Amino acid sequence: MLRVREIAVSYGRVPAVHDVGLTLESGAIHAVVGANGAGKSTLLRAVAGLNRIARGAIELDGRPIHGLPAHARVPLGLSLVPEGRHLFPRLTVERNLQLGAFTRRDAAEVAETMAQVVEIFPILEQRRTQLAGTLSGGEQQMVAIARGLMSRPRLLLLDEPSWGIAPMLVAKIFETIQQINARGVSILLVEQNVKRALSIAHRATVIQTGRVVAEGTAAELLQSDLVRQAYLGM
Ligand SMILES: Nc1ncnc2c1ncn2[C@@H]1O[C@H](COP(=O)(O)OP(=O)(O)O)[C@@H](O)[C@H]1O
Ligand SMILES: [Mg+2]
Repeated sequence: MLRVREIAVSYGRVPAVHDVGLTLESGAIHAVVGANGAGKSTLLRAVAGLNRIARGAIELDGRPIHGLPAHARVPLGLSLVPEGRHLFPRLTVERNLQLGAFTRRDAAEVAETMAQVVEIFPILEQRRTQLAGTLSGGEQQMVAIARGLMSRPRLLLLDEPSWGIAPMLVAKIFETIQQINARGVSILLVEQNVKRALSIAHRATVIQTGRVVAEGTAAELLQSDLVRQAYLGM
């Protein structure tokens, strides 16, 4: 479904990602794990169209998309849930969700998606008219993921969904990611929480200082010395 071919991304003259490639099969949860500053968000933002690539290619369903602006990638089925959530704190939960459907015209269909999304996150029904900024971190993350689903993506790009969330809710968030995947949405999951990410991913790519250092099934990576020593402290 998604092929990232040896891309490079720089900020000004400072390279952040070098020759990173990965292949995500349709229906999969593919995790990208690595330490803070490794280049995970840079990679994800490049896929979403928020970072320009200097080299390489990004293909969706076999077609190059790296020349398209971010907003033109949304109707193709890509949706980014950014690191730090980036909600509109002074808008209601409902308005935040509606903004996720900015590329869609049919109001009745959008309302239908809203109902499906609230089914996945029942708490949001109670929070609908509350200002997003008044919710807990975990609830805000639910709003951010729900907003990401409002464009009806085929591939959801999740950047650190467990960041800044009470431990109790982290398990809930990861469970929900699996539920969303079970509904047929492929997932590219960026996480520093390597153990949790590998516990739900089918495959994963490990990056260190902007380069791929390991790739494989989640089970393979959980067994590898590199992952065990560098990320699991074993
Ligand atoms: N907007 C930016 N301007 C300049 N450098 C950046 C910017 N965003 C990230 N970087 C740098 O790029 C590298 C990769 O960052 P990032 O992709 O955010 O890593 P991660 O998501 O894995 O923590 C880091 O060295 C970081 O300091
Ligand atoms: Mg990041």
